[in-house]
Amino acid sequence: FSSYILHRSFSRVSERPSFGIAFDIDGVILLGNTPVGGSPAALRKLYNYDGTLKFPYVFLTNGGGIPEAKRASELSELLGLNVSASQVLQGHSPFRQLVNRFEDKLIVAAGKGEPALVMSEYGFKNVISIDAYASRFENIDPLAPYKKWTTKLATTQNPKFDESGPQIDVFSERVQAAFIVSDPVDWSRDVQVLCDILKTGGLPGRNVGTQPHLYFANDDLEYQTKFPSERLGMGAFRIALESIFNRTHHHSLEYTCFGKPHPSVFKNAEIVLQKHVPRVDEDSYDINHKNAQPFQTLYMIGDNPAVDIRGARQTGHPWFSILTRTGVFKGKENHDKFPADLVVDTVEEAVDYILAKEC
Ligand code: G3P
Ligand code: MG
Repeated sequence: FSSYILHRSFSRVSERPSFGIAFDIDGVILLGNTPVGGSPAALRKLYNYDGTLKFPYVFLTNGGGIPEAKRASELSELLGLNVSASQVLQGHSPFRQLVNRFEDKLIVAAGKGEPALVMSEYGFKNVISIDAYASRFENIDPLAPYKKWTTKLATTQNPKFDESGPQIDVFSERVQAAFIVSDPVDWSRDVQVLCDILKTGGLPGRNVGTQPHLYFANDDLEYQTKFPSERLGMGAFRIALESIFNRTHHHSLEYTCFGKPHPSVFKNAEIVLQKHVPRVDEDSYDINHKNAQPFQTLYMIGDNPAVDIRGARQTGHPWFSILTRTGVFKGKENHDKFPADLVVDTVEEAVDYILAKEC
């Protein structure tokens, strides 16, 4: 009976799916680089036999550190699916909106992966990674001689991008903004260098000016990887930097955090999901958004009550939140402070619930 309903619901050309799904990545789809909760099988259920998308979905992660296109290829490889770059919304994706403000101005990008490449692909023209920036100042990190890991600058496969940064004089050109693109790697060095930049008005060791802008891609206190208990995230780094800055400077640190749980992230996901709704007349997608109908339900499947569930709840209609037990949340019942509309063990269970309800 249910397969009859499934067939009937979506074989008629006049019917389009009136729902979409946003998948959190860490703790829902992957633990580290390993799929979790039956994620490959769950996602396969959203495709037609010919590999085209049957139901619209996106990845809505607070993580990042590499360009969306590269993340899409990595996910495709890990999950055995064809994920497109436009289906990947990362914590730092909204940084694009700041290009006009900082286009030619010197900015520093921090975090694991290739933060400067990410910003350069968004259109920022004068960006340097914090690694490359710190390497231009002798003795900026007094602990550097004790750090046993390599300090070689990351290499990128993009020949158009020079990881060593633009040829600027860091002693005269002020940093106008610092962007924490992904989780910082060397916290002690980054706290030190960011304090230097932010306290001096963008000229470490030099004169004093107003605090350059500071942006964080997310404010996640903790997130889940392969280790059994949660790991410290960018929000924890933010607390460390802010506490130290405020104890050593006469002005409080000013900053802006992006990412979930901000409703703007969910509203943007809705716009992107519309672009992935299969068209009614042919087997492609309504890229121009011409036949857009409002979604009846949008599902957020996440593992972090304070981030994923809170965000979906704050955004309100048409969001419906589903909490899995494969990540940050490990409780038996629902979360007390940020209860989800539904709690399940795994992402596969969540997708089965959605398809049974919608089809
Ligand atoms: O660094 C990653 C993290 O803070 C959260 O990622 O996919 O759970 O939103 P995600
Ligand atoms: Mg997560």
